[in-house]
Amino acid sequence: MIIAVDGPAASGKGTIAKALARHYGLPHLDTGLLYRAVALTVRRLELDPAVEADAVAACDFAEDLLADPELRDDAIGQLASIVSAHPLVRAALLQRQKRFARQPGGAVLDGRDIGTVIAPDADAKLFVKATPQVRAQRRHKELRGHGSGLSFDKVLADIRARDARDSSRSAAPLVMAQDAALLDTSFLSIEASVQKAIALVEARRGATPAT
Ligand code: CDP
Ligand code: CDP
Repeated sequence: MIIAVDGPAASGKGTIAKALARHYGLPHLDTGLLYRAVALTVRRLELDPAVEADAVAACDFAEDLLADPELRDDAIGQLASIVSAHPLVRAALLQRQKRFARQPGGAVLDGRDIGTVIAPDADAKLFVKATPQVRAQRRHKELRGHGSGLSFDKVLADIRARDARDSSRSAAPLVMAQDAALLDTSFLSIEASVQKAIALVEARRGATPAT
């Protein structure tokens, strides 16, 4: 079973994807980390994120940084959304993600384009959303917990900028797949979000004709 979980920043997609993976005993890939690792490489090597060839060169080193705590930085999220708009960067990371999705037994992946590009044939697709205000509150709290002094207004502005960039790019933009189920977590606790997600996956599975 392949489960695709997409949505904008701090909508809760990572929390939900992780919980679904645990529930169904499937491996999980947070694809945002791949783009964040490319962004961190660009920053460390002082490359130009706007230059496609620079960002593509950074893809070769990204694998080594997947556990780096700096990946969580707000600035790295912003930079990730700049490098991820380059079609050749997306192409460089495509096969790794497709392989993960297609492994025997299945997988859960979360990101922006899982249901549309990486696994269009997923058995269940969720599109997770929440209001920008709620998402900024969540991300602000998270960043504060990691010692960041960024203001709420700055976090909200960054989330809005990233939403706009991710949704308007021509390569694999953030859009809800036509066959995805919408899950609005704005007024849901983590526990309630996860229960709802499991119910939606079960409904999709039940709706799939036996082959
Ligand atoms: O956790 P959060 O939603 O804040 O960000 P993320 O999932 O780590 O993604 C960081 C950035 O990577 C996003 O703003 C996107 O620009 C990009 N991304 C993407 O283009 N495609 C994906 N499948 C995942 C992330
Ligand atoms: O992966 P994404 O950026 O979409 O979001 P996340 O990392 O799953 O969640 C962002 C933050 O919101 C985390 O600190 C979650 O614990 C929190 N969250 C929440 O407070 N309520 C929810 N219903 C879902 C997530």
